[in-house]
Amino acid sequence: MSPSIPDSIPGHEWWRSAVIYQVYPRSFADASGDGVGDLPGITAHLDEIADLGVDAVWLSPFYRSPQNDGGYDVADYTDVDPLFGTLADFDLLLAKAHDLGLRVVVDLVPNHSSNEHAWFRAALTAGAGSPERERYIFRDGKGEHGELPPNNWQSLFGGPAWTRVDGGQWYLHLFDSSQPDFNWENPEVADFFDAVLRFWLDRGVDGFRVDVAHGNVKAPGLPDVDLELLKTGSMESPYLGLEGVHEIYRRWHRVLAEYPGDRMMCGEAWVQPLEKLARYTRPDEMQQTFNFVYLQSPWDAPQLREAIDGSLEAFGSVGAPSTWVLSNHDTIRHTTRLALVPPPPHGQGVGPDSPSKADPVLSQRRGRAASALMLALPGSAYVYQGDELGLPEVIDMPGEARQDPTYARTGGRLVGRDGCRVPLPWRADAPAFGFSPTGASWLPQPGDWAALARDRQAGDEGSTLELHRRALRLRRELGLGCGSLAWLDAPAGVLALRNGDITVIANIDGEAAPLPAGEVLLSSAPLDGSDAVPADTTVWVRTSD
Ligand code: NOJ
Repeated sequence: MSPSIPDSIPGHEWWRSAVIYQVYPRSFADASGDGVGDLPGITAHLDEIADLGVDAVWLSPFYRSPQNDGGYDVADYTDVDPLFGTLADFDLLLAKAHDLGLRVVVDLVPNHSSNEHAWFRAALTAGAGSPERERYIFRDGKGEHGELPPNNWQSLFGGPAWTRVDGGQWYLHLFDSSQPDFNWENPEVADFFDAVLRFWLDRGVDGFRVDVAHGNVKAPGLPDVDLELLKTGSMESPYLGLEGVHEIYRRWHRVLAEYPGDRMMCGEAWVQPLEKLARYTRPDEMQQTFNFVYLQSPWDAPQLREAIDGSLEAFGSVGAPSTWVLSNHDTIRHTTRLALVPPPPHGQGVGPDSPSKADPVLSQRRGRAASALMLALPGSAYVYQGDELGLPEVIDMPGEARQDPTYARTGGRLVGRDGCRVPLPWRADAPAFGFSPTGASWLPQPGDWAALARDRQAGDEGSTLELHRRALRLRRELGLGCGSLAWLDAPAGVLALRNGDITVIANIDGEAAPLPAGEVLLSSAPLDGSDAVPADTTVWVRTSD
């Protein structure tokens, strides 16, 4: 490990308080000029990530893949897709990141592979009843000629969760038909993933973000669901959130523990309530899970407070840190989302025909206030690339440009997630705003993003970039990630809390709130000399008592 990475102190492992910056490689920086971001592009910008003041990067998948789902359809778990570079490029990235003091977390996709994975190809050739098919979930269909799917499960991307192979058996795919689900009942699958973990751990990665961590295990007999009850959460899902997944994470915990340094896993598990989510972070399982309860909280003081309290309590009860996240590559960017009226249901996305609209000025203001509140909380926080620039969701993207399989699978009824995946603007006056040397960009960038480009914001004290840099520097200096939270009395619509030496006033939608006496260290909006904190503003004040 590089000397820039400090030694572990038990109970103070880095992941307990780290700010982890999510890189979505396709959209971060393109060094090759083909319009898709790549590993050399990331390496070239690691200095800027380190300069932001985060502790680690999480890389979304860069493995061999036909890219039907942005790389979450993996054809080879231990190789880099030529689109992104080579394994040597990865090693360079990792070494430079470590030299800069940044840990590196990679994505692990264990619920399904790509249909181009060697195992799935072999399963297709080998036919019904073969050991090759036992690695996935193949079943005979219902109906006189097996012409009906084995059950009524629906894909999370829309349409049936089963696809038939050449008039024969059907295979299960909770996502796109190009993403067949593994059969985790088969010990070969578990052994295979142990080897994948070891491959990346041996290369030196610091951890894994585990995709669909609540998937993997399906109920015996694959029973039909009541689609209405499932939609409203009134029945237990037979394919998401089953208890059997915990055995897998205990096994992986033991694999990680064989390695020096504090290797970690963070689960992507969309389960509720928080007590159920916290079970993924028991001492012998994962170190973290994403806190989607926090992400899904509306901009409402009582609901935010409830989410914060509930998280600290649930994760605290198993000795795990709470995590905080506002945006990622699957959700409407929070800068836009928190200002949408009416708020769209989760998973709906927002497109040109959506009834939900967001005022752009309010969006920026609220997005900054939300980020400043999140970064003041104890625990570990995730920042999605572009959050630090205040990027909004791209709503006006034409259907022809959209690439998320959700859009095609629902005939455009759901716009999908492309709006939060638009390539980053680095330089206002360069082609593709500096994303790619040729000006190519796999998703179109809005013309007005010049104003949000990183080079326009750098050094501008009022910019969202500088707000993030200041917040992250202070968070580190003041040890806020390892701190603790105490609520203070506050007027309606306002959150007031204490973490170590700072008092945080987050005025969500209240009347102007009194500014406590002390040094204002950070404010998400100008206070203009006033002694009150206006709505949609978060302020950090160093107070003496
Ligand atoms: C969650 C990932 O974050 C998302 O992008 C992907 O489409 C699904 N899992 C399927 O892998």
